[in-house]
Amino acid sequence: MEKIAVNLPADKYQILIGSGLLTGLGGHLLELGLCDKAVVITNPVVRHHYGKIIEESLDAAGFKTIILEVPDGEEQKSLQQAGQLYECLSEIEAERKTPVLALGGGVIGDLAGFVAATYMRGVPLVQLPTSLLAQVDSSVGGKVAVNHGKLKNNIGVFYQPRLVTADISTLKTLPAAESENGLAEVIKYGIIRDPELFKLIELNIGKIKSADEKLLEDMVSRCVSIKVGVVEQDEKDLGLRNILNFGHTVGHALEAVSDFRIPHGQAVAIGMLAAGRISWTVGLLNEVDVSRIKSIIKKPGLPVTIPGLDVGRIMQAMEHDKKKVGGKLRFVLLRAIGEALISDEVSAEVVEKVLKDLL
Ligand code: NAD
Ligand code: GLY
Repeated sequence: MEKIAVNLPADKYQILIGSGLLTGLGGHLLELGLCDKAVVITNPVVRHHYGKIIEESLDAAGFKTIILEVPDGEEQKSLQQAGQLYECLSEIEAERKTPVLALGGGVIGDLAGFVAATYMRGVPLVQLPTSLLAQVDSSVGGKVAVNHGKLKNNIGVFYQPRLVTADISTLKTLPAAESENGLAEVIKYGIIRDPELFKLIELNIGKIKSADEKLLEDMVSRCVSIKVGVVEQDEKDLGLRNILNFGHTVGHALEAVSDFRIPHGQAVAIGMLAAGRISWTVGLLNEVDVSRIKSIIKKPGLPVTIPGLDVGRIMQAMEHDKKKVGGKLRFVLLRAIGEALISDEVSAEVVEKVLKDLL
């Protein structure tokens, strides 16, 4: 098991990464001084696989366990669903010390995290991420939110958990398309911050796809360490944390223009290649590194071309990107693999040309 400490001015906690960790969850909660009642928020898919393990572990540690189930899907990340969960918490007489355990992917983590952050002005939150994306990204760093109107994650807060337990063995039941989504983010960490991780992925794609637990533990730990390092320097996303959005400026626009038919991981994959090509066009990155980026994206089957979308509409969608700063688009660019920088100086002409080349 890997233990990664998070040290923020107001919050200190650990992220545990390893196989079979959910069985020991009850003991870990007792060590944190939590006791009595525990509320697990999950969905039917994840409950089916891991509900019993969690219940047994919490029961053995003397907790009264209450499981609250919300349907599967991004649309559950809403104020309405949060409202229903507040009702349930009131009904079961959850108190300020009652921990909320978010068991699932990023949707559950964000929704349950938002509820934990706001119910009674905040109750203890424990993140139990079960998707690759949630283990390497959404459960780390304290961003919790729901969607509202047409905007994603626009009602939210920064709220750090008391503990994150990433049980690698849960990745065995993750559908292949979801693993692919998570892998795009894993590749992102290698590109922006860790050439060794980049090489590890280049050399081991077969083992990664077959969910080799030792390799996944190493890979998830590296990603989490990178994100923790960034969050410790810029918890509130005022500068450096923007580098975690590498590939997301174009990626978000592709998702929006395709009416979310292009999955997040695929959109980010194309966005990462676009950002690499922009970096090369403006003279920052060499051609060999651009080719390596293209080839690592292709290895797990992620796309490297834009499937039949209008570049004009993609450009328009980027105009609405929330990271637009002072009339200019914010891009995360590269000086080399492992060395990212934030730029507000990329011209629309360069972006348009790169996108047209990717068609
Ligand atoms: P998700 O939560 O919808 O999970 C994907 C699918 O996999 C779901 O059907 C889920 O039920 C299923 N699933 C999860 N774990 C499983 C397992 N072990 N076995 C079988 N099925 C499993 O999607 P996601 O990709 O995990 O997360 C996406 C969400 O995360 C988005 O809402 C996004 O906005 C958010 N996000 C948040 C942050 C943050 O910093 N808070 C960062 C990135 C993404
Ligand atoms: N997923 C980007 C962040 O947490 O800042």
